[in-house]
Amino acid sequence: MSKRIYNFSAGPAVLPESVLAEAGANLLSLGETGIGIMEHSHRGKAFLKVYEETEALCRELGGIPADYDVLFLQGGASLQFSMIPMNYLKPAETADYLMTGAWSEKAEEEARRYGKTHLACSSKDQNYNYIPDAVTYSPRPTYVHYTSNNTIFGTQFKATPQVPAGAFLVVDASSDIYSRPIDVAKHGIIYAGAQKNLGPSGVTLVIMRKDLVERGSKDLPAMLQYRIHAKNQSMYNTPPTFGLFVMNLVFKWIKSHGGLAAMATHNEAKAKTLYDYLDQSKLFKPTARRDSRSLMNVTFVTGNEETDNAFVSAATKAGFDGLKGHRSVGGMRASIYNAFPVAGVTALVEFMREFEAKTLV
Ligand SMILES: Cc1ncc(COP(=O)(O)O)c(C=O)c1O
Repeated sequence: MSKRIYNFSAGPAVLPESVLAEAGANLLSLGETGIGIMEHSHRGKAFLKVYEETEALCRELGGIPADYDVLFLQGGASLQFSMIPMNYLKPAETADYLMTGAWSEKAEEEARRYGKTHLACSSKDQNYNYIPDAVTYSPRPTYVHYTSNNTIFGTQFKATPQVPAGAFLVVDASSDIYSRPIDVAKHGIIYAGAQKNLGPSGVTLVIMRKDLVERGSKDLPAMLQYRIHAKNQSMYNTPPTFGLFVMNLVFKWIKSHGGLAAMATHNEAKAKTLYDYLDQSKLFKPTARRDSRSLMNVTFVTGNEETDNAFVSAATKAGFDGLKGHRSVGGMRASIYNAFPVAGVTALVEFMREFEAKTLV
C-alpha cells in the first residue's frame, strides 16, 4: 500500500482507515457469502441485513424518535434543496431561510421556484463570517431552513434555532451530521450528503418526521415523493448499496468510539488545537467570528494572497493535502471531520509554526 497522507479535503473527505480496510475486505465476498458487497442484489437477504443494521445504528446513534423515518436517498444534499420546497411549499406560502453561506443561498434559490421565500437573517454583509444572533421570521412560514455548518466559510450554529409555532424546522447538516449530538425532535427534516462524516458520496441521509412524510405532495414524480421512498424502505429503486455498506461501517466506528457525545469531545479538542495556535499566530488569522467558529472546517488567511499560495504549496509538498480555501473566501481551510486524526492536526500546527518562523524572519 502506498503511504497515506493527511487529507484536509472538505468532501469527499477522509474516512477511518479501519472502515476502508473492512470495506476492502468485503469487496470479493461479503462475509462468507462468496459474493462481493457491490454484487449483491439489494433485495437479497445478505444486503437487507446490512440495510436494516445501518438504519438501526443510525437511529441508535442519533437518538432518533420512533415517529421519524430514516431515508437513504440519492441526488446529494442538492436534490434536497429542491425536493423539500417541491413537496411542502405551495405557491402562496413562504419558507424562511437563515442565510449563512453559499449552500443556504443555493437552497433558497431552489425554494423560489415553488413558493415565496423570506430571508430571516443574513451574514452576507461580512462575507458570511458569522452566524447572526437575531432572526426575524415572516408572519407564517411553512418551514424554516438553516445550514448547521457552513463548509465554505467555516462557521457553525452553536444552538438549534427556535421556530415560530406552526412552522417546521429543516436543517442541511451535510458538513456536521453526527459530529455532535443532535436534537432530532426539534427538527421536521434533517438532511445530509454522506461524503463528509458518514461515508462515500452517493448516499443522502434524510431523517424526517412521519407526519411530514405523509403531508408531502402526491403530484410529483415517484422518485421525488418522500412517501414512496419511506413506503419502500428507500428501495423504490436500486439504492447505493456500497455507499450504504460503508455508512454501516462508519456508524459502527462512531459507536465503538463512544457515539456522538464522544465525537463532539474529540472534535472540540482537535479544533481547539488549531484555533489556539491561530489566535496567537502573527502570520495566520482565523476568518470566522470567534463565537461562530466551525469545529469541522477551520478557515484562515495570512492576509497576503502570495503568502497563502506559498503556504498551500509548501504544505502540499510536505504531505498536507486539500488546504486551499474555497475560491469565494480564498486563504486556507482545514476540514477536520470525525475521521480526521488528532495526529494530523498536531502535525499541521507544527508545520504552520515552522512556516511562520521562516516567513517572519
Ligand atoms: C453544507 C452543504 N450543503 C450542501 C452541499 C452539497 O452537497 P451535495 O454535493 O451532496 O449535493 C455541501 C457540499 O459540500 C455542503 O457542504
